Amino acid sequence: MSQQASRNSDRVVFKNEHPDLSHSREEILAGLQAPQKTVNPKWFYDEYGSQLFDQITRLPEYYPTRTEVAILTENRDQISARCGHGCVFIEPGSGSSEKVRILLDALQPSAYVPVDISAEFLQAAAFELSDEYPWLDIYAVCADFNQGWSFLDALPAGKRVVFYPGSTIGNLEPDLATEFLTRVRDMIGESGGALIGVDTHKSSDRLNAAYNDSQGVTAAFNLNLLRRLNELMGAEFDEDSFRHYAFYNVEARRIEMHLVSERQQSVRCNGATVEFSLGETLHTESSYKYTPQSFTALAEAAGLKLTQSWMDSDELFSVHYLERA
Ligand code: SAH
Ligand code: AVI
Repeated sequence: MSQQASRNSDRVVFKNEHPDLSHSREEILAGLQAPQKTVNPKWFYDEYGSQLFDQITRLPEYYPTRTEVAILTENRDQISARCGHGCVFIEPGSGSSEKVRILLDALQPSAYVPVDISAEFLQAAAFELSDEYPWLDIYAVCADFNQGWSFLDALPAGKRVVFYPGSTIGNLEPDLATEFLTRVRDMIGESGGALIGVDTHKSSDRLNAAYNDSQGVTAAFNLNLLRRLNELMGAEFDEDSFRHYAFYNVEARRIEMHLVSERQQSVRCNGATVEFSLGETLHTESSYKYTPQSFTALAEAAGLKLTQSWMDSDELFSVHYLERA
């Protein structure tokens, strides 16, 4: 993303509600000390992590992005009509805000609200978007979308539509995905909606290839988490002592990404020591895949109903419009 772009800043409001790091450090350490070591995947995304994710979206093996882009492009008018012209369009996990560009001209939202944990990347993306769409009011919020959405009070009135593409919902454990959707339901009220992109359950071969690309970008994205932990926690992880491991767990219908310890090691971390045995893994991300039926059930558990769905002809990816049940 160009940092040099001219700045049309009068239409961009930036609010930083990044989570408090002292609490986050305790949470991260608790995850590293659990029997199955784990870290919340939100920590992948600092500026470099966001850039690596952008590279992933362009990989030949990573079909989700180009498939969803094609679905949004082919059905742009129908989708925009569903969302409603002039709505307040809120995108949790907005990243580079690439996909919203497909809809903006047709949708003409009264405001666009990108929400992301990756502060610098979000800010640069918001300014770049503003340069391309000078008429658009942008309220960019750096926040954890799983915590309170206090920024909502500052938004203009009007129909609210939550845009949650990319199958980022798949990175939430199903109980947290239900909580997230319940919050969406409360936030959109009687008249609002949600446009959600969901990756589908499919052959293990296709899924395993998407998370084990031949250029090693996904491996670099996964390993970058160790650099982040070193930065955030004053930890001493050695990237060369871990390797990327990703596989489709068919029973659980999720990709699991792990970092495997290549030796027995003790790692200093925030005043504690974390022990790894040879071959022990740190679970860094799950990416759940849904059938239309299983996603319908998830939505219903949150008090939402699917009112329209779109898929590509190979059924690789789905986009759903939801309203209050
Ligand atoms: N919506 C984009 C980007 C998806 S990548 C697309 O469809 O391509 C996931 C995005 O969610 C990243 O930009 C990441 O920084 C953000 N993210 C992940 N966990 C988050 C959290 N808990 N709170 C806020 N943003 C989060
Ligand atoms: C952001 N999220 C939906 C991506 C996914 O496919 O689960 C993150 C990712 N992890 C590895 N590759 C891409």
